[in-house]
Amino acid sequence: MIKRPIHLSHDFLAEVLDSEALAVDATMGNGHDTLFLAQRAKLVHAFDVQEQALEKTSQRLAEAGLTNARLHLTGHEHLDEFVTEPIRAAIFNLGYLPSADKSIITQPQTTLIAIEKVLNLLEVGGRLSIMIYYGHEGGDVEKDAVLDFIQKLPQEDFATMLYKPLNQINTPPFLVMVERLK
Ligand SMILES: C[S@@+](CC[C@H](N)C(=O)[O-])C[C@H]1O[C@@H](n2cnc3c(N)ncnc32)[C@H](O)[C@@H]1O
Repeated sequence: MIKRPIHLSHDFLAEVLDSEALAVDATMGNGHDTLFLAQRAKLVHAFDVQEQALEKTSQRLAEAGLTNARLHLTGHEHLDEFVTEPIRAAIFNLGYLPSADKSIITQPQTTLIAIEKVLNLLEVGGRLSIMIYYGHEGGDVEKDAVLDFIQKLPQEDFATMLYKPLNQINTPPFLVMVERLK
């Protein structure tokens, strides 16, 4: 079956992850992406502003017997206070956590700060996946801000791709992929 954007977001990162890699989950939520990264990287730094996200994620990691993730209860816009080494792979899942307070959403301004900080720390050959959910109020503004920012990245330094359903009704999530070239 054709790959969904969420699956491609993982496959894209899996290709560059190994036991030496540092990875970042910028939007921890229920911890699905943190678990995925922790299974493949040396160390993962994960961020969320909700206590519930840290609880769910630490439970998920404990069930898998993984201890190589650092969970930070703070916004991803502060990630450089915790991550100073080069990043091999990073993921963002924008929007809200379905099982929680739907008014707590990622915001364009802080999302862009965090994306810029990740790109500054990305290794050559390192990759970033951004899953864009934009069906909620304010989601459109964030989608446009992220696309505008990514489109302006210099092509000598970054390769960028968009993976998006074309005939699905409503506002299906889509994927933006970035790789640092030099
Ligand atoms: C779509 S959910 C993430 C889903 C998650 N990746 C998973 O596997 O379940 C978006 C998450 O971003 C979090 N969030 C909102 N603002 C944030 C910020 N400034 N920094 C980090 N996380 C933030 C929300 O609390 C929410 O848990």
